[in-house]
Amino acid sequence: MNLLLLGSGGREHALAWKIAQSPKVSKLFVAPGNAGTAELAVNVPISPTDFEALKAFSLDKSIDMIVVGPEDPLVKGVYDYFKQDKQLAHIPVVGPSQSGARLEGSKDFSKAFMLRHGIPTARYKSVQAETLQEGLDFLKSLKAPYVLKADGLAAGKGVLILNDYNEAASELQEMLAGKFGDSSRTVVIEEFLSGIECSVFVVSDGQHYKVLPVAKDYKRIGEGDTGLNTGGMGAVSPVPFADAVFMQKVEDRVIRPTIQGLLKENIDYKGFIFLGLINIQGEPFVIEYNARMGDPETEAVMLRVQSDFVELLEGVAQGNLNTRVLVEDPRAAVTVVLVSGGYPGDYIKGKQINGLDQVQESIVFHAGTNVVGERVCTNGGRVLAISSYGTSMEEALKTSFENASRIDYDGKYFRRDIGFDLR
Ligand code: AMP
Ligand code: GLY
Repeated sequence: MNLLLLGSGGREHALAWKIAQSPKVSKLFVAPGNAGTAELAVNVPISPTDFEALKAFSLDKSIDMIVVGPEDPLVKGVYDYFKQDKQLAHIPVVGPSQSGARLEGSKDFSKAFMLRHGIPTARYKSVQAETLQEGLDFLKSLKAPYVLKADGLAAGKGVLILNDYNEAASELQEMLAGKFGDSSRTVVIEEFLSGIECSVFVVSDGQHYKVLPVAKDYKRIGEGDTGLNTGGMGAVSPVPFADAVFMQKVEDRVIRPTIQGLLKENIDYKGFIFLGLINIQGEPFVIEYNARMGDPETEAVMLRVQSDFVELLEGVAQGNLNTRVLVEDPRAAVTVVLVSGGYPGDYIKGKQINGLDQVQESIVFHAGTNVVGERVCTNGGRVLAISSYGTSMEEALKTSFENASRIDYDGKYFRRDIGFDLR
């Protein structure tokens, strides 16, 4: 079949790498892709949110399936656009409907959804400018630290964790006044949960589901999980504390109620559900839902899917995921992200990357690169994700770190302590 993957990051390179290995795929296109996807697929210069251009391309190239990487096109309704167009309705889109993508696109919706379906999550209150006082009262009733979340998408910046009540109260007012534009006209105030996080990826055809290998990502720029939040500095899979007992609780208390809840509410959901979970003394709570795979988790998780991934995607499209096989690779997999100096603040793009041909035994996924003339250059904050297998997490990390030092560009930085809290 001919498959079109939407997106351009490390996640999409990892998805493309896995999809391209399937004998079921004759042609793989990535819109718009990056320097890495260009090596195993055909990049097409179309934005994932330009639905009309996607339509024309899909018809022209006889696309049989669309797989959506990032959240933007989902929240904007790419699934519904294809489903509702007579010429396109035969092309399945792996990714939820616009209504389903609200699990990620609206924190207010996702919290209310969890409450309706008894899914464990932090206590919360959702407020708008008119209900500011209720918000302040709720904040007062909580203990520090305080968690404030912009309701809508805010490019990963919409969550604030504040230690002081007065600071939280003034941030709340600024958010409601439009600090994150319309995204923060509604703010979710949450009780702070203390525990250890992991990322669980569920793929669903709307009725059945499969749980992909569990991962843990490292979001902060500094070692020991310090400093500013980033798009993700590394990830490991498996996660030792996400053992069979914990995962049984996750299935019983979170995954099944989520799928059942979507069904009951007539929400069409054929795609990935990313559960950002926190383990509090062995009990799972949902920190957030996303309507897509995680980045950089995907750059480790795809290595651990041993069976044909397209088999699962087909199951999603055909509604028979229950008949499909998912075999996990027993090895550990990790990814270490190389970023540009200065990131997540200001940084300079366009630095020439050397040493990619020196890499041994790792798979290098491109996150923010481009080709200038013949040279691969940095073109983003997160530049490359160095993914490796090992018989243990330590062994896999050793391989990634060795290769991280073989690759070079001006301002290269990476965390040398990925996995530190799992040792
Ligand atoms: P993101 O939504 O990816 O920008 O990141 C939000 C991060 O904030 C999560 O990964 C958690 O580490 C943290 N967080 C969000 N909600 C809570 C909460 N209720 N309690 C503690 N930490 C939280
Ligand atoms: N790694 C977290 C995310 O993709 O949102």
